[in-house]
Amino acid sequence: MFTVIDECYIEVLRLVKQAGSIINEKIYQPKEVVTKSSEIDLVTEWDQKVEKLLINGISSKYPDHKFIGEESTAMGQKVELTNAPTWIIDPIDGTMNFVHGLPHTCISVALLINKTAEIGIVYNPILDQLFTARKGQGAFLNGAPIHVSDKKELRNSLLMLETGTSRDPEQLEAILQNINKLITRVHGIRTLGSAALNICMVALGGADIYFEFGIHAWDFAAGELIVREAGGVSIDPAGGPLDVLSRRALCASSMELAQELSKLITQYYPERD
Ligand code: IPD
Ligand code: CA
Repeated sequence: MFTVIDECYIEVLRLVKQAGSIINEKIYQPKEVVTKSSEIDLVTEWDQKVEKLLINGISSKYPDHKFIGEESTAMGQKVELTNAPTWIIDPIDGTMNFVHGLPHTCISVALLINKTAEIGIVYNPILDQLFTARKGQGAFLNGAPIHVSDKKELRNSLLMLETGTSRDPEQLEAILQNINKLITRVHGIRTLGSAALNICMVALGGADIYFEFGIHAWDFAAGELIVREAGGVSIDPAGGPLDVLSRRALCASSMELAQELSKLITQYYPERD
């Protein structure tokens, strides 16, 4: 039976592809860049245009649906997650990469109903990587099923992390302490510059674990469903359940790995979304 969520999924995929063409066209062109919460938290006119395209497109079909969008929030809209169908949107995740022309940049869109993720889409149009997931239906890269790795121990795991977009000394100190603690405990550390793509690398089995403090709901809402649908786990970095508005996330190929990391790291609690 064809459900409303099936219909939403088809519609949003169409819009995401359209948005992807804009990113593809603009990434290597000069652009105007302004800063937001810090001198390394960047936004371009294309972030705003892509977010508008997605929100206007979805609203015209589903006028009752709600939105949590990175750029709408930056313009002062309050973050509110109710039981109503809510789209959580990052029009360009990896804006710094988009500005520099580093091709790890993507659109991240999730649909939550009753605060439960139903749809997750992460699309890197430059490298033509479309990661998709629907609740209970598995995760896919360009239509082919994907699965997390079989890693259960940190010592043979590839860790994805980020240095973030904040210059807050306390947050930077936690990041540096964690790099120091982890560098000799893992196989290697990698950073793509996009939280959503880092998480998708775990979903794909190319990396094994990712965590970050200070990210926002729009950076990980889609990815965390994709990684769970690929057989992995998404938890709070202290070991409890994931809270999409907490600005903290840990995604891993197994609960054993997730819990091992959570016990080792210095915790940081940013102000909630
Ligand atoms: C950022 C990226 C980055 C992460 C930051 C995010 P943006 O999102 O995901 O990897 O470290 O915390 O804010 O600003 O490019 O959408
Ligand atoms: Ca963004």
